[in-house]
Amino acid sequence: MRFIVTKDYNDMSRKAANIISAQIITKPNCVLGLATGSTPVGTYKQLVEWYNKGDLDFSEVSTVNLDEYKGLDHDNDQSYYYFMMNNLFKHVNIDLSRTHVPDGTEPNPEKACADYEKIVKSYGGIDLQLLGLGHNGHIGFNEPSDNFAKVTHCVDLTESTIKANARFFEKIEDVPTQAYTMGIGTIFKAKRILLIASGKDKAEIVKKAFCGPIDPQVPASILQLHPDVTVVLDEDAASLL
Ligand code: F6R
Repeated sequence: MRFIVTKDYNDMSRKAANIISAQIITKPNCVLGLATGSTPVGTYKQLVEWYNKGDLDFSEVSTVNLDEYKGLDHDNDQSYYYFMMNNLFKHVNIDLSRTHVPDGTEPNPEKACADYEKIVKSYGGIDLQLLGLGHNGHIGFNEPSDNFAKVTHCVDLTESTIKANARFFEKIEDVPTQAYTMGIGTIFKAKRILLIASGKDKAEIVKKAFCGPIDPQVPASILQLHPDVTVVLDEDAASLL
């Protein structure tokens, strides 16, 4: 694992965007695995800025996102598709037919997840997978568990996640209770992994995930076994390393 410690959130975002840019420049038809959440917002903003300057071309890039809430359609402003559209896709020249997020509107979990695995496979795998890190060590929606889930699957969101998400919805009944997520195995098959984390509140889990034992109770710890992982942290997130 390579660690890059940066000054602050903006610096982390720029370094991460640099790694993604290098991937796009050296392989214009690459497959990017993408994440949502607050951490990558600055990274996407930087990529859009470089695109607007004429330094990046997304026309041949394909993307597969990590996860999506079950039951939310593309127009729902809490869906991960909506997030990707507004933070990246609509600002660059990407071909939308080559952007993929698990289909939250598919009511049958087996079908939704099998279809998504097929899509990832049809591209011949992911060249570079961007990841954030949950406070409990989750990656995608792979929560602490007794084993590492292999493929895309449906997860029941924990009570605490549902409560934490409630602030984004009008009423608690509107908060999705399930999500579709790539499995740890799907993520692990990516040729390269780029994990980003920022803030003091991530310092503890960064240390646990990358300096502690490999344990499905800390899902990100499996990344220690991956041959090509770059972890870009700001000073706060790296403060306990
Ligand atoms: C998002 C995702 C999640 C987040 C993680 C960190 O697609 O899969 O695992 O990366 O929850 O979220 P933030 O960046 O909001 O701290």
